[in-house]
Amino acid sequence: MSHLVIAIDGPAASGKGTLSRKLADKLELPHLDTGLTYRAVAHQLLQNGQPLDNEAVAVEAARQVDLSSLDKDVLSDHAIGDAASKVAVMPGVRKALVELQRVFAAQSPGAVLDGRDIGTVVCPDADIKLFVTAYPRERARRRWNEMQLKGQDADFDAVLADIQHRDERDMGRSDSPLKPAEDAYLLDTSEMDIETAFRTALDIVDKSRTA
Ligand code: DC
Repeated sequence: MSHLVIAIDGPAASGKGTLSRKLADKLELPHLDTGLTYRAVAHQLLQNGQPLDNEAVAVEAARQVDLSSLDKDVLSDHAIGDAASKVAVMPGVRKALVELQRVFAAQSPGAVLDGRDIGTVVCPDADIKLFVTAYPRERARRRWNEMQLKGQDADFDAVLADIQHRDERDMGRSDSPLKPAEDAYLLDTSEMDIETAFRTALDIVDKSRTA
């Protein structure tokens, strides 16, 4: 297979980001965390004191997103993630960002992209699609642990409520809602550590490539 595109979707804190990075490293493919593109739009609006619900303003910000300068450290802030899920409901914003994401996917020798709508909208013809999920409580536990490690004070119930709220917004929007593509492999990582999830995903990729 000369051009290989792997689409990885799933809800917040499902582990899809870590899994995607590990797969991309192993397969020596470039990786794009498409959540960062929505976060970059939200970040720009927040920085400029602009509203999060004005589509024309948000589309203008989306047109300025540059994939080569997405700074994960800056963009990983919790408030930016929440604002990103608000700007992500706007079709104009999605259209501008999906264009950039498709250019990334088209590069040689291929790419690993992760997000919410990669297998359904961005790359419906991807060679391999994974939908990574885990119970909300388990995802909240992982997020809470991460925050503890960073020394951030966090209330578990608030983290869980936030994850549930984010799920509702991401699954409930009318444009490109979060859902598994019909031909996606479902990977429930609730009972798996990251190494087990990685080996399971790699196995799916290997089997698909030799099929
Ligand atoms: O994966 P993340 O937490 O960085 O994503 C932040 C928000 O961006 C998420 O709540 C919804 C949106 N998003 C999206 O709508 N489509 C994508 N492909 C990726 C992210």
